[in-house]
Amino acid sequence: MALDRKPAPNDLDAFWMPFTANRQFKKAPRMFVSAKDMHYTTQDGRQVLDGTAGLWCCNAGHCRPKITAAIQRQAGEMDYAPAFQMGHPQAFELANRLIDIAPDGMEHVFYANSGSEAVETALKIAIAYHRAKGQGTRTRLIGRERGYHGVNFGGISVGGIVNNRKFFGSLLTGVDHLPHTHLPVQNAFTRGQPEHGAHLADELERLVALHGPETIAAVIVEPVAGSTGVILPPKGYLERLRALTQKHGILLIFDEVITGFGRMGAPFASQFFGVTPDMITCAKGLTNGVIPMGAVITTGAVHDAFMQGPEHMIELFHGYTYSGNPIASAAGIATLETYREEGLFQRAAEIAPYWEAALHSLRGLPHVIDIRNLGLIGAVELDPIAGEPTKRAFAAFLDAYESGILIRTTGDIIAMSPPLIIEKAQIDELIGKLATVLKRLH
Ligand SMILES: Cc1ncc(COP(=O)(O)O)c(C=O)c1O
Repeated sequence: MALDRKPAPNDLDAFWMPFTANRQFKKAPRMFVSAKDMHYTTQDGRQVLDGTAGLWCCNAGHCRPKITAAIQRQAGEMDYAPAFQMGHPQAFELANRLIDIAPDGMEHVFYANSGSEAVETALKIAIAYHRAKGQGTRTRLIGRERGYHGVNFGGISVGGIVNNRKFFGSLLTGVDHLPHTHLPVQNAFTRGQPEHGAHLADELERLVALHGPETIAAVIVEPVAGSTGVILPPKGYLERLRALTQKHGILLIFDEVITGFGRMGAPFASQFFGVTPDMITCAKGLTNGVIPMGAVITTGAVHDAFMQGPEHMIELFHGYTYSGNPIASAAGIATLETYREEGLFQRAAEIAPYWEAALHSLRGLPHVIDIRNLGLIGAVELDPIAGEPTKRAFAAFLDAYESGILIRTTGDIIAMSPPLIIEKAQIDELIGKLATVLKRLH
């Protein structure tokens, strides 16, 4: 049907924005028009220091020349190749490079186009894996309270953020949740990994006893939960989860969409914590956020379980038109080269103690009830305004933007995850401006 009015080029009405307070935004739009390294430029010509690497994705900073050039080159050389029954060299090369930096034993890559799709892919592989192994009763999936695994039906079913679930019907059946690991009474203001809470992994034993291990396909967790407002794994927790999943023949999936690609000072959080899952989901930093791409990285054992039957048969009935898209693959290769050439994972590890000290200097400011950090991740939790949850943090976000820093808020938690190229002086600027914002808050 034809529009009965012609939208003006600057009409904001047509675009229904994701995870956004649309009406508030359209009354007072916040527009970025260009970006370079650590900064965005706003439409009104101001510089904004990026405290969130876009959305936890531009780990090498913005408009990095090698990545830009690779995309331009690939777009001119071959724009698209069919993803099914055909290949092109870049997708294979990127898979090999990913395996090079992945934990030992992770040997295969299945491409998707986002973190959400990577999660759906991993959950489906988990169920199909057990079936391929003759254990078709293993269909149950276990996530965790406050987990975020994207927005598709599988992801919100295993996820544990109430607003992401409650509007969308009955979700997947056969899903359970472990308790989250946020223990503010015991762990508030901990620097790095909290001491208390490893026992929360033992809740898996309870679910196993309830359902029988032969019904459970996989456990999926974020090694460090990001979108819920940064929840850290207590010391020993992930190790216990690994031991219990192994004991009961359950696959363990680490959703590393935000922790992958140097955020923790190692290629993946798996290596940082010394715990290897059966599958890793990743996206975001895979292409420095520049072109949509996600991936599932699996062990040899998971992949090999499918490689049976007649050779002309498709082994896994799953995939996307854009799985391993040439331009995304070229961006991925150039991104991994940029990380390596500039030693960015190591850099993140080296600057993390400075980051930690700067963040914790905010302790004692008005409304601050907790500060958490690990790697180049930081969170400042605010006391909510009585009866008006999220309002205080949203006010901080708006004030921060006006003050020239980009932060992110979920609930009443401010989360930060700057590009790994951040300099100490820029950490000082980010935290200094945030301190001023916090002092102004009502
Ligand atoms: C842990 C985790 N999984 C999945 C996703 C979803 O990724 P996407 O938004 O690319 O679908 C996110 C996004 O923030 C995430 O943090």
